[in-house]
Amino acid sequence: MKRIRMKQVVRLMAGMAITLLFWISFAGPGHAGGHEDAADVEFAELARAGEPLYLHYCAHCHGVHGEGDGYNAENLDKDPAELSDHAFVAQKSNEKLFRAISEGGKAVKKSYLMPVFGHTLSEKEIWSLVAYIRVLGDDKEQRVALPPQAKTERPSIPLETHETLSSFLHWFKEEGGSSKVLKAGENLFRNKLACFACHSVEDEGGRVGPELTRAGYLYKPEWLYVWIKNPQHARPQTRMPNLGVTEDQARSLVSYLESLQGGDDDEMVPEEWKPYLEKPGDPKAGEQLFFDTLGNANCSKCHRVKGKGGRVGPDLSLVGTSRRPEFLLESILDPKAVITVGYSSVLILTREGKFLTGIKVNEDDQSLDIIDKEGNSLHVEKSLIKKFKTQKISIMPGNFKDILTEDDIRNLLAYLSGLTLPAMNEDRSRLSD
Ligand code: HEC
Ligand code: HEC
Ligand code: HEC
Repeated sequence: MKRIRMKQVVRLMAGMAITLLFWISFAGPGHAGGHEDAADVEFAELARAGEPLYLHYCAHCHGVHGEGDGYNAENLDKDPAELSDHAFVAQKSNEKLFRAISEGGKAVKKSYLMPVFGHTLSEKEIWSLVAYIRVLGDDKEQRVALPPQAKTERPSIPLETHETLSSFLHWFKEEGGSSKVLKAGENLFRNKLACFACHSVEDEGGRVGPELTRAGYLYKPEWLYVWIKNPQHARPQTRMPNLGVTEDQARSLVSYLESLQGGDDDEMVPEEWKPYLEKPGDPKAGEQLFFDTLGNANCSKCHRVKGKGGRVGPDLSLVGTSRRPEFLLESILDPKAVITVGYSSVLILTREGKFLTGIKVNEDDQSLDIIDKEGNSLHVEKSLIKKFKTQKISIMPGNFKDILTEDDIRNLLAYLSGLTLPAMNEDRSRLSD
C-alpha cells in the first residue's frame, strides 16, 4: 500500500504543477513584474486544495479535465457543464458557481441532475472548487478569495437515534406500501434529487453508484433510511453526497427502493439456496472460519472486519447492518451477481504478452495501480499496456459452494449478519480502521 500512497503524492504534485503554471502565467502586464501579490497566492492555494475534491466528487460527470466527458456523462439526459470552456466559465461570477455547487443545479435554474454538495463539503472546500474551476476554464480575470466568514468545517449532521429509527420502522410497516408514498418516492428518485444521475434502475440512469433495480431484495429498510439521510456517517469517503433530504423525503425514498425487487418473488432465491437460509448457523464458528488462514474459506485474506484482515475486497465491519441475509448468501455463492462499487476487476494485457488481473485502485494519465487477488499492489505504466478491460467477474472466488459445507456457509452467514452497528448514536470512529 505504501507504493500507492507515494503515487497519490506524485499525482497531487502533478496537480500542483498545473495550478502553479496557471498561477505563474499571471505575471504578465498588469501584474507587478514577477512578484505575485497575496491575492494570487491565496487563489493558487485554494485551487490546489480544490483539485483532489474535484477528482473525487465531480470528474465522473464533468470529466478529469472538465470537458464534460466523465464516464457517467453518457447516462445523463443533460450534458454536464463543460468547465474547461473558457467562455462558459468566464461569464459566471464566483458567487454563481458557489451556489450551483452548494445548492445544486435547480438553485441556479439548471438541471436537477447536478447534485447538491452543500450538505457534504465545507464552504471553504466549495470555494476551493470554484477556484479550481477557474483553473480548468483558464480564467485569470476573476480571482477567487475565501470570504472571511466562510466555514471551514463540514456540516455536522446528527446521527440517527434508536428513537428516530424505530419510529421510522413503525411508520414503514403501517404506511410504507401505500401507492401515494411509492409514487412520491419514485418522483424524488427520478426527477428531483439527482439519485437517478448516479444510479440506474432497469438499465436507465447513472453508473456512479450501484444499480438499484433489486434494492428491496438487497438492502434492509432501516439501512436505506440511515444511508440516505447521511452516507458520510457510514463511509466517510463515499462519492455519494448528502442530498439534504427531509424526513418525509427519506421515508418515501426508502419505501420506493424497498418496492424494487427486480423480478417475481418466487424466483428471487433459487431453490438450491433455500436450505442455507432455513436453519440458523453458529456465528462463533463462522468467525473462526472467516479468519482461519489455513481453512477452505480464508475470507480474511481479502476482507477486513473491525481493522483485522486484508484489503483486496470491501471492509465487512458493518455488512450485517445493510445487507439482507439473501444478499449475503448471494455474495458468497455467486459473487459476480453484484460487484461492489469500486471493486470491479480489470484485465490487462501488456505489450510483452503478460496478463494481469486485479482491482484498479488508482489511475492517472501515465499509469495504473492495481491490487491483485493475493493482495500485492502492482504499478503498470500505460505505455506498456496493449489491452485494458473491465471485467464482469469478481476477484472473489466463485467456488465456495463446492469447497464449503452447508454448515460452513450457514455459520459464515450467521457471523456476517451479526456485524451490525452497535448503536446508531455511538462514536463511528470505533468501527473504521
Ligand atoms: C451526477 C453528475 C454530476 C456530478 C457528480 C457533478 N455535476 Fe456539475 N453538473 C452536472 C450537470 C448535468 C450539469 C448541467 C446542468 C444544466 O446545464 O442544466 C452540471 C452543471 C454544473 C455547473 C454549471 C452550473 C451553471 O450555472 O450552469 C457547475 C459549476 C458544476 N456543475 C460544478 C460541479 C462540481 C464542482 C461538482 C463536484 C463537486 C459537480 N459539478 C458534480 C452533473 C454533475
Ligand atoms: C453523485 C452520485 C450519487 C448520487 C447523486 C446519489 N448516489 Fe447513491 N451512491 C453513490 C455511490 C458512489 C454509492 C456507493 C457507495 C460507496 O461509496 O460505497 C452509492 C450507494 C447508494 C446505495 C447503496 C448503499 C450501500 O449500502 O451500498 C443506495 C441505496 C443509494 N446510493 C441510494 C441513493 C439515493 C436514494 C439517492 C438520491 C437521494 C442517491 N443514492 C444519490 C453515488 C450517488
Ligand atoms: C481473493 C479475495 C477474496 C476472498 C478470498 C473472499 N472475498 Fe469476498 N469479496 C472480494 C471482492 C474483491 C469483493 C467485491 C467484488 C464483488 O462484489 O464481488 C467481495 C465481496 C464480498 C461481499 C459483498 C460485500 C458488499 O458490501 O457488497 C461479501 C458479503 C463477501 N465478499 C464475503 C466473503 C466471504 C464470507 C468470504 C469467505 C468465504 C470471502 N468474501 C472471500 C474478495 C474476496
